[in-house]
Amino acid sequence: MKNLWNAFALPGGAHMGTGREDLILLQSLIMANRPRTVIETGTYRGYGTICIAEALMDCPSRNHYLWTIEYKDSISQIAISNYHRCGIEQHPESSNIKVRFLTGDSGDPKYYQEFYAKYGEIDLAFIDCGNRLRAFEAMYPYLKEEAIVIVHDAWTRKASYSQWMDKLKESQKLYDYGIIPTERGMSIMRVRQLKNQ
Ligand SMILES: C[S@@+](CC[C@H](N)C(=O)[O-])C[C@H]1O[C@@H](n2cnc3c(N)ncnc32)[C@H](O)[C@@H]1O
Repeated sequence: MKNLWNAFALPGGAHMGTGREDLILLQSLIMANRPRTVIETGTYRGYGTICIAEALMDCPSRNHYLWTIEYKDSISQIAISNYHRCGIEQHPESSNIKVRFLTGDSGDPKYYQEFYAKYGEIDLAFIDCGNRLRAFEAMYPYLKEEAIVIVHDAWTRKASYSQWMDKLKESQKLYDYGIIPTERGMSIMRVRQLKNQ
């Protein structure tokens, strides 16, 4: 996990949105599930993006597509610079990973529509932006049956997270979900695609 530790040494690393424990869990989930297509909402300074890309290098036999969406252009630019600086692109395995940094609102379905048109359904999503339910609803039609959706801050945003879970249970869009008790809480969901039924 060389690049992950480099990421922590980057300026602002000590103040990152996602903690070390959560990022290690995120990497483990990526390595276990080996997704071809991944979306991250809320790039911030790119620590999650770097971790996801690094974990994808562990399954190098196919191409992987990772798009990350950040609302603020100035932050997106820091993420791009961090990504270039962390050294991941020097690894030969990284040639199979196509990462795209987008600036905009992750609640806008146009990103997922475009992603779907280019690469097909989304295998795994890491939701770490504001208004997470809106981002989920925007990407939902493009998520694969049984896609994994990981949601950060299930503890620290407990009230909004519970409301969200109530709505999703009602709409039956999930087979199952659980929270891993990291410091901030990482929720892992498995999606049910109603369009296929
Ligand atoms: C907790 S940080 C993300 C941390 C990052 N995923 C990581 O692992 O380091 C949340 C980020 O989401 C961005 N954000 C908030 N609302 C957004 C939206 N609707 N669309 C895209 N980005 C958003 C914020 O500007 C902020 O940079």
